[in-house]
Amino acid sequence: MTFVPAKWPRKLRSQEWFGGDSRDHIYHRSWMKNQGLPADLFDGRPVIGICNTWSQLTPCNAHLRDLAERVKHGIYEAGGLPLEFPVFSTGESALRPTAMMYRNLAAMDVEEAIRANPLDGVVLLVGCDKTTPSLLMGAASVDLPAIAVSGGPMLNGWFRGERVGSGTALWQMSEDIKAGKMSRDDFLEAEAAMSRSAGGCNTMGTASTMASMAEAMGMALSGNAAIPAVDSRRRVMAHVSGRRIVDMVKDDLKPSDIMTKEAFENAIRTNGAIGGSTNAVIHLLAIAGRVGVDLTLADWDRCGRDVPTIVNLMPSGKYLMEEFFYAGGLPVVIKRLGEAGLLHKEALTVSGKSLWSEVEDAQNWNEDVILPVEKALTPQGGIAVLHGNLAPKGAVLKPSAASEHLLVHRGRAVVFEDIDDYKAKIDDEDLDIDETCIMVLKNCGPRGYPGMAEVGNMGLPPKILRKGITDMVRISDARMSGTAYGTVVLHTTPEAAAGGPLAVVQNGDMISLDVPGRSLVLEISDAELAARLASWVPAVEAPKGGYAQLFYEHVEGADTGADFDFLKGCRGSPVGKDSH
Ligand code: FES
Repeated sequence: MTFVPAKWPRKLRSQEWFGGDSRDHIYHRSWMKNQGLPADLFDGRPVIGICNTWSQLTPCNAHLRDLAERVKHGIYEAGGLPLEFPVFSTGESALRPTAMMYRNLAAMDVEEAIRANPLDGVVLLVGCDKTTPSLLMGAASVDLPAIAVSGGPMLNGWFRGERVGSGTALWQMSEDIKAGKMSRDDFLEAEAAMSRSAGGCNTMGTASTMASMAEAMGMALSGNAAIPAVDSRRRVMAHVSGRRIVDMVKDDLKPSDIMTKEAFENAIRTNGAIGGSTNAVIHLLAIAGRVGVDLTLADWDRCGRDVPTIVNLMPSGKYLMEEFFYAGGLPVVIKRLGEAGLLHKEALTVSGKSLWSEVEDAQNWNEDVILPVEKALTPQGGIAVLHGNLAPKGAVLKPSAASEHLLVHRGRAVVFEDIDDYKAKIDDEDLDIDETCIMVLKNCGPRGYPGMAEVGNMGLPPKILRKGITDMVRISDARMSGTAYGTVVLHTTPEAAAGGPLAVVQNGDMISLDVPGRSLVLEISDAELAARLASWVPAVEAPKGGYAQLFYEHVEGADTGADFDFLKGCRGSPVGKDSH
């Protein structure tokens, strides 16, 4: 346990609120004391915010109040004063139209809540997909010492002797129902088996990916990503993170010291090795924008291209997060990257030590879960960034989730103008489509949906599923759930609702996809494309009023992280005058 003198060696930010005898100082202290806090807790020690995304509407984070208590134990032990506060919680499974629409709102909430309050450092309690990037984005824009603690994944789902992976099994089973291979009763039984404990998705979906990104960037203690939510060691992680944030304040170790370009490159390579979610592309670009790191789609392709996917987890592989933890978790993977010369070993972490020093003693306890390189799921993991006249600013595809035989493919476009059009047509037995076609979905980008829904892995037509075919090339400006799979081109930018070329694709156009060559081409002449774009009429109506209007007017493209234009950058922690 760290001994902390009653008086901190230097005057901290919180003392602007608590450290004096003016009317304002008394006001700030006295009201706090209504919570039963002794006077000496305001003697100059660090005040640590616990930024909590707990919500019963975010079931993946519904256990975070317990973890907050563990964090408090650690903060008190180390001589700090913990103060827990709620922020907007972006629950993936329930929010409409999509949780992504609220990531920036949550980030704004986090930023303002941290800056406006008497805090010296903050513990970020995260879990479900968007909660991790939104808290990292907000904290980065304030740049006070911050440490992330993830809620952890659910235990393995089991149904009739088989693993049931969050999301991944859902996509499979819903197609089985469509194809007449599964009954509704079996489906109901399986959906209960899928979510059998507290925690987030147990696959390497977006939540586990983003927890891994936080750890790989150095923003969480080593080992944080994989500990199951209900394992006692998750509580220990919360407890020691509480201790650590106090020392981080002492050392003035800030997000901008940790989230450097090298840290992002480490995270990108880690994403390739774990077969992580395509959503990480957007979130890391947005976080980088907050700390002023020049990260681009080209960095994603460059850094991820030669990284083999060695984590055998759904949706790319076989196992689930619980088994990843037992095998040694993310430190083993990061160590492998270091041994392969793919890591910036000296990157700093919240521990105050280098990333390499945190992982160099890690051991792999199960080589079927964390595979040797020669048995990698795919030798080229990472995210492929595609360009061409259909995606002038880029589009992404996850090779490890795609079908090998479709990575180079030319096909006839079958166009859905928006998600409603898709839903209206997809089950029609007369739809003019076969498995060689390319399904094109428009108006599902940041502005189009709005919020950029995870609908890019649109289900196949039943008549094709009944043939036993499970994958086709699909192209959209949407995102895809991290738990999903398929040969799916996502994040096509500029999006259709912003007048990108995707908006003018017509039924019957030929499209060629070449993932190894990184190209996505609409096979019409430049003159024809220009003529179509010149006569394009927006199909999406701008929302009137409220947050939807703010979102529509200020959200940027997926190629730069879909942050709001006015939220980019670090604004620091100065808060101006007291109001009393
Ligand atoms: Fe919350 Fe997957 S839906 S973690």
